[in-house]
This record gives sequence, structure tokens and C-alpha cells, in this order.
Amino acid sequence: MSQRIAAKITGVAGYLPPRVVTNADMEKIVDTSDEWIRTRTGIRERRFAEPGMAASHMGTEAAKKLLADRGVNPEEIGLIVVATVTPDMFFPATACLIQDRLGASNAWGFDLSGACSGFLYALTVAAQFVGAGTHKKALVVGSDVMTSILDFTDRATCVLFGDGAGAVLVEPATSDTEGIIDFVHDVDGSGGCNLYMPAGGSLHPASHETVEKRMHYVHQEGQQVFKYAVRRMSDLACEVLQRNGLSSRDLSLVVPHQANLRIIRAMQERLGMDDSKVIVNIDRYGNTTAATIPLGLKDAVEQGRLRKGDLVLLIAVGAGYTTGAILMRWAY
Ligand code: UT7
Repeated sequence: MSQRIAAKITGVAGYLPPRVVTNADMEKIVDTSDEWIRTRTGIRERRFAEPGMAASHMGTEAAKKLLADRGVNPEEIGLIVVATVTPDMFFPATACLIQDRLGASNAWGFDLSGACSGFLYALTVAAQFVGAGTHKKALVVGSDVMTSILDFTDRATCVLFGDGAGAVLVEPATSDTEGIIDFVHDVDGSGGCNLYMPAGGSLHPASHETVEKRMHYVHQEGQQVFKYAVRRMSDLACEVLQRNGLSSRDLSLVVPHQANLRIIRAMQERLGMDDSKVIVNIDRYGNTTAATIPLGLKDAVEQGRLRKGDLVLLIAVGAGYTTGAILMRWAY
């Protein structure tokens, strides 16, 4: 059954740290090659944040740009939901730090840990509050400093990720022909062991041993995650379209999570969509975890690839496993 939410995205902005790190730069850090990275992942370069730049700093930059672009006063924001797996610290929540820096004095907010699906989880949650009439303006931020949890001796993971942030503004939809039409989310916790950061939580608090064993970094069974992502991205897309009586031919644009170009192309092939209808920026940003979808939307807007009324699908699979697909009519 469809789950329409009377909420729409009314603005989008992103922040990317200025430092560009190419595959040739990565060759100087680990035993890898530009050719391997390009052909296996589609990545050519990524951005690295300078030391001292945390998820809240990047998220605040994205949010400031968004509010300035839309002419919205920070005091009008009622809710801030931040998706991140690299919060500045366990607590206070990164949402609190962003609220303070923005001067969003009438907002409450919290962080949400959904890894690569995190932004879509955050968008669904914020949209529920807006759709229910609880808030008129909600800010949804995806921000990850992946370099803070990358093992730069592990070539199988460190070449994949980059740093970045994106933000969207969510406001009430005023008609059935705009905004969020439906969403699908699920988790499959049996896949948790395939992509995780072992230490730093209550199970393995930080100790000399956890540091020595390199347990504060991303660990991934790449092939397992790859197979799951290829299958679930396609299944989710078909499910959300079918139950709304739509087909991929009705879609104007897909904004997929950017983990691997081969995963994106496999989904695209199953949907029978050509390149012009699928946002790809993994070549320039790598996998920015919670930021990939809002950065994809930012690029789509900047490239003039989104028009009012367009049917848009946002879709992601990530650590957990977590999944998400959100179908909407673009509203501005
Ligand atoms: O965003 C969250 C969700 N994450 C994903 O969706 C990621 C899903 N997984 C993937 O995208 C892919 O599995 C990877 C890109 C991570 C790896 O690609 P793969 O084609 O599955 O490679 P592989 O892990 O099977 O490794 C193949 C070979 C191995 O060498 P041998 O054992 O065949 O000699 C690796 O050691 O490639 C080697 N390798 C590398 N070689 C050069 C692994 N990483 C590198 C590297 N440079 N950076």
C-alpha cells in the first residue's frame, strides 16, 4: 500500500571540502592503481576534509547555503534530523551542534544512524513530522567525514570513500500532485557483520588493544555487500513503482546511493533506463555515505535535470543492512 506524506523538498544544497584527492594520490598511500579503482568502482577522485573539520562543520555549511538560497530565517526551522555515522562525538548529537551554529533557536533535533541509507531514513522521519502538521519547516542533513574512520593501510576500503555533506528543506505539500508519494525501508541485521566499525561503542570501548587491532575503522566484506546491494536496489525500485501503479518509464530521474558505479548500472539496466535519467557523481566524490543522495540532488538541480512535476526516485542500500527508496514529485 502506498504511504503518501503531505511533505515536499523545497530546497537543496551541499558542501564539499576543497581538497581533491585523485586516484593517483591514493597510489602514493596504498598499493592500488587508478585503473583498478576506476574500473571496479567508477571513482576518479574524492574530497578529503582537513583535520579539525567535523560532520557538524560540513553539515552547517550545507545548511547555511540552503537557508540563504531559500531566504529562510534559521529561527523558522522546527526540526533538524542529521544522518551520519561519523558524528563529531557520541554526544551531544551533531544535530545540536548544527542547531547552535545556525542559530536555529526554535528547533529540536537528533542524529540518526542509518549509514548509506541514513539520509533517506532522516528524510522519511522529518517528512512525517511535516506531513502530520507538527512542523512547517524541517532541515534534513546528511554529513560524513569518512576519512575519520578509514584505515589508510587497507586498500580494499580506503579508496572507496570521501567526505561531504548535503541538506534539504522539507515543507508541507499543498496538493496531491507534489511531494513524497511513497517510501519503502527495511533492515536486514544479519548483514551487519559485512560492513561495520567494530570498536568505540559499548561492546568494545576504546582501549590500547582496540587501537592496536585497528578496530576503529571501517571493515567491509566487499563482495557480500556488493551482491546484496545489486539485488536490493533493483527490487526496491520495482516494489515502490509497482505498488503505485507506475513503471520505470514514468521516472524522470533516479538519484541512487553512490557506492559503486557497477551497482548503479546494474539497477539501471534492470529498470531499462538510460544514463541521462540516472545521477552519477561517484567519479568526483567517491562514497560519501549519508551525503551521497543530497549531493546527487544538488548536482541534479545545478545541472538543470529536475523540473517541477518530475517523478523522482531516491534509492540506497547500506550498512546494517539498511535500505530505502523514496518516490516523489519534484516540487520546485
Ligand atoms: O556504501 C555502502 C555499501 N557498500 C557497497 O555497496 C560496496 C560494495 N562492494 C563493492 O563495491 C566492491 O566489492 C569493492 C569495490 C569493494 C571491491 O570490488 P570487487 O570487484 O568485489 O573486488 P574484490 O574485493 O573481489 O577484490 C578483487 C581483487 C583482490 O585481489 P585478488 O585476491 O583477486 O588477488 C583484492 O585484493 O582486487 C584486490 N583489491 C585491490 N587491488 C587494487 C582490493 N582493493 C584493491 C585496490 N587496488 N584498492
